Amino acid sequence: MTAPGRFITLEGGEGVGKTTNMAWLCGWLEARGVEVERTREPGGTPRAEAIRELLLDPDFDEPLASDAELLLMFAARAQHLEQRIRPTLARGAWVVCDRFTDATFAYQGGGRGLDSKRIALLETFVQGELTPDLTILLDAPVETAQARVTSRLKAKGGQRDRFEQERQAFFRRVREAYLSRARAEPERFLVIDASAPLEQVQRALESGLETRLACL
Ligand SMILES: Nc1ncnc2c1ncn2[C@@H]1O[C@H](COP(=O)(O)OP(=O)(O)OP(=O)(O)O)[C@@H](O)[C@H]1O
Ligand SMILES: [Mg+2]
Repeated sequence: MTAPGRFITLEGGEGVGKTTNMAWLCGWLEARGVEVERTREPGGTPRAEAIRELLLDPDFDEPLASDAELLLMFAARAQHLEQRIRPTLARGAWVVCDRFTDATFAYQGGGRGLDSKRIALLETFVQGELTPDLTILLDAPVETAQARVTSRLKAKGGQRDRFEQERQAFFRRVREAYLSRARAEPERFLVIDASAPLEQVQRALESGLETRLACL
């Protein structure tokens, strides 16, 4: 039987550099002979991406109830797990995912103030025993990350999504919630100072990965 692949997640607030470092991380793994499937949440399959649209769209005339937001996140995750993550891991490939359940604890828990015990119930319901093998938390002060989102919007255009329109206090709670999860599970989390220039972030990532993935 093939050994199951590993499940790596990239986390952090808006603009910390998850998507930027995803490409670097996957390249690093592939150079070591690992077959990597890259994906993101919410989304990762056509139906789950349709749920993502619903979650991020800022143009409805009606607010989205926090519980509905939470359940939609887990609905998208259930689809993504069944259609993509579990089959990929089962065939021995690795999955690298831009955000996963830690983001739900950080945004819906820390940001929106939903009870983390309820989130944990849904986590067990949807995921069973499956949790990431390694979670890379890119951490930067909210002001630094926000400035990056602003310059990315200037360069690439587009509109701020429903989350990007939140206030600084929301993102400070998100950051705190992420850091507190990392403190609670230091063996799963690799915390990287993402406020540094990109080359420095990638050097820190590389040395962390060499320790955490000594098997490669
Ligand atoms: N270490 C860095 N120093 C300076 N700029 C950076 C750094 N890392 C990423 N950036 C830039 O900051 C912007 C945001 O990065 P990126 O889109 O990767 O963040 P993200 O975490 O994926 O954001 P989101 O949560 O909105 O998806 C991009 O324009 C990227 O080029
Ligand atoms: Mg991104």
